[in-house]
Amino acid sequence: MSNPSLLILPGDGIGPEVMAEVRKIIDWYGANRGLAFDVSEDLVGGAAYDAHGTPLHDDTMAKAQEVDAVLLGAVGGPKYDVLDFSVKPERGLLRLRKEMDLFSNLRPAQCFDALADFSSLKKDVVAGLDIMIVRELTSGVYFGEPRGIFEEGNERVGINTQRYTESEIARVARSAFELARKRGNKVCSMEKANVMESGILWRDVVTEVHQAEYADVELSHMYADAGAMQLCRWPKQFDVIVTDNLFGDLLSDMAAMLTGSLGMLPSASLGVPMANGRPKALYEPVHGSAPDIAGQGKANPIACVLSFAMALRYSFDQGAEADRLEKAVEKVLADGLRTADLLGEEGVSAISTSEMGDAIVAALTASL
Ligand code: NAD
Ligand code: IPM
Ligand code: MN
Repeated sequence: MSNPSLLILPGDGIGPEVMAEVRKIIDWYGANRGLAFDVSEDLVGGAAYDAHGTPLHDDTMAKAQEVDAVLLGAVGGPKYDVLDFSVKPERGLLRLRKEMDLFSNLRPAQCFDALADFSSLKKDVVAGLDIMIVRELTSGVYFGEPRGIFEEGNERVGINTQRYTESEIARVARSAFELARKRGNKVCSMEKANVMESGILWRDVVTEVHQAEYADVELSHMYADAGAMQLCRWPKQFDVIVTDNLFGDLLSDMAAMLTGSLGMLPSASLGVPMANGRPKALYEPVHGSAPDIAGQGKANPIACVLSFAMALRYSFDQGAEADRLEKAVEKVLADGLRTADLLGEEGVSAISTSEMGDAIVAALTASL
């Protein structure tokens, strides 16, 4: 049987820096666990624009559709601010999500014990936190029509449309309920049914899917603004949160700070199963290209490393190896190793991106 295939798209800014550390881990699994991947690498975002004049070449799009999983670093950066909207780096990522139909974006926020002191919230609020945000990723205001900047009378008007179909809501709701059954068996759905019709439909459909198929799971609803407040006040009340594309974007960045740093948060974007039974999948850190620290060896590679752990779990049925990798990260943090974003404690000095990658590899080897 041939090896599973992985397409690596490092992207821009710190993307290539954090991905270089993931490459070390992929090599480690090949050498030590008999888990070899057929790895290919290509361009996305600003890097693809520089080479081809487009943030995602059609050939790259076609490759992404064929492989077992895509791993992406980050896209974007100030250099590309001047570009036309249609070729901005972010459009490349959005095209991948849309054309691969990756409707379910899993964004876990887990607070490692070693970092409980580091969050900007009090230790007892975040210690032991383990929540999963399920963000709808292929619809809503990110993609709804009409959209654009138009002339109206003697001024310009900017338009985006929040649009959800019943089936789009139902499928992401199912994915949240399925996950909840394997975790704490609770789902909280967030929308703004008090002011938006799409929110009313969202609440109705989630409730219908729940009653028909998942009555064993505990379901609650919250307005997304109140949900944001509750995430800061007492995040441990949540298990799985399911929400739309835009609210999910905001709430997951906020959840990142519960764990100590945006540099800690991985994500999996999953679609429908392919012929081989694996879901279409793209794995990427929640953070962006971090232009303020790019090229300095300061980036925390853990979000990208943990995204690969999610790939092991959700694409390759290697839950035990995903656990091993997550434990290796936990060990390195428990040993006091920190990239600059996780500093603040007295007496700890920062290690570089590649030193962090090496330390994780060493912890993997020690786990054998
Ligand atoms: P960002 O996530 O790139 O950075 C926000 C802050 O977090 C910065 O101070 C940065 O230094 C820090 N940070 C982020 N990741 C880090 C890491 N791994 N280690 C240490 N510190 C880290 O968000 P931004 O500054 O708003 O956006 C920069 C660019 O990235 C924009 O072009 C944006 O569109 C893009 N972006 C891309 C993605 C993606 O590719 N998935 C996600 C978010 C933003
Ligand atoms: C994310 C990012 C993206 C989003 C951008 C870069 C398109 O912020 O993955 O969270 O808004 O979805
Ligand atoms: Mn975001």
